[in-house]
Amino acid sequence: MQRASLPSGVSFTAIQVAGEREREAARADALFSDPLAGATTAYVRETAGPDEPAPYMTPDMQWLYGDFFAIRTRFIDERMLSAFHDGVTQVVFLAAGMDGRAYRLDWPAGVRVFEFDRPEMIASKQEVVRHAGLSPKVEVTAIPGDLNEDWPPRLRAAGFSADQPTVWVVEGLLAYFSPEAANRLLSHVAAQSAPSSRLLTDYVKGDHLVPAAQAGRDTGAAMAVLATLFRTGPSADPWTWMSGQDWDIDVTIGAECARALNRPVPPAVDPELNGAVSYLVDARRL
Ligand SMILES: C[S@@+](CC[C@H](N)C(=O)[O-])C[C@H]1O[C@@H](n2cnc3c(N)ncnc32)[C@H](O)[C@@H]1O
Repeated sequence: MQRASLPSGVSFTAIQVAGEREREAARADALFSDPLAGATTAYVRETAGPDEPAPYMTPDMQWLYGDFFAIRTRFIDERMLSAFHDGVTQVVFLAAGMDGRAYRLDWPAGVRVFEFDRPEMIASKQEVVRHAGLSPKVEVTAIPGDLNEDWPPRLRAAGFSADQPTVWVVEGLLAYFSPEAANRLLSHVAAQSAPSSRLLTDYVKGDHLVPAAQAGRDTGAAMAVLATLFRTGPSADPWTWMSGQDWDIDVTIGAECARALNRPVPPAVDPELNGAVSYLVDARRL
């Protein structure tokens, strides 16, 4: 069978995260299961040629991130599900990647999901889903596009309503955005957010990720890719970054979230190790 190629550039990171979710799902004490993650890694193994680099976590990256992706996933799962009790009926995944929530969560009736990502990422996801024979548990509309462009019209054209409260999931994206691009994204989200909408997102403040990735450049394929992709993300803590835009901001520090889930604090988000502070943000639109 002719296969679509795997996504390249920044979309490669979605394959890395799927690999980590599969690793988590295989644990006896897993924080979630994820059939799409398993399907993704199976597809990668079948597709990869013998000379292709390891597609996801190499030991250097594993050391840096530990269980961070699983911890972040669980945090967003819990906050997203809680939003349904508040009557939210739209969920928009910006930079959806291989997010498997549409395939693994129990969705209330009437919720609509929009998944926005780069065209090649969407094509790869659809190919993996088709190949594995997975069916979403909720109505999903995929929207190909570029979040650095004027994307809200594409979302509205796909049926999104800015009048309905929405959960925005922006998971694992901001590290690849400049401060200016992060500001633009936030303004677009705010302008499309009816009262009681929620923005669930994450980023790490601290200058260690870029040097850590660069230091790992020669030691692992995954780090080599990341070193070329990292930007700085938002330039301030969430309270400052989101100030003046009518958000009620609830922040969980990544290291504390790890401890609450009985997981070791990953070096990438350990303030005691390198001063990095990871913010897991749950903001409610006033
Ligand atoms: C680390 S992955 C995270 C994917 C997903 N949110 C998750 O947690 O599994 C980053 C994602 O951002 C997407 N992305 C990066 N820049 C983008 C842009 N300018 N427009 C649309 N998607 C983008 C990539 O294609 C990739 O899917």
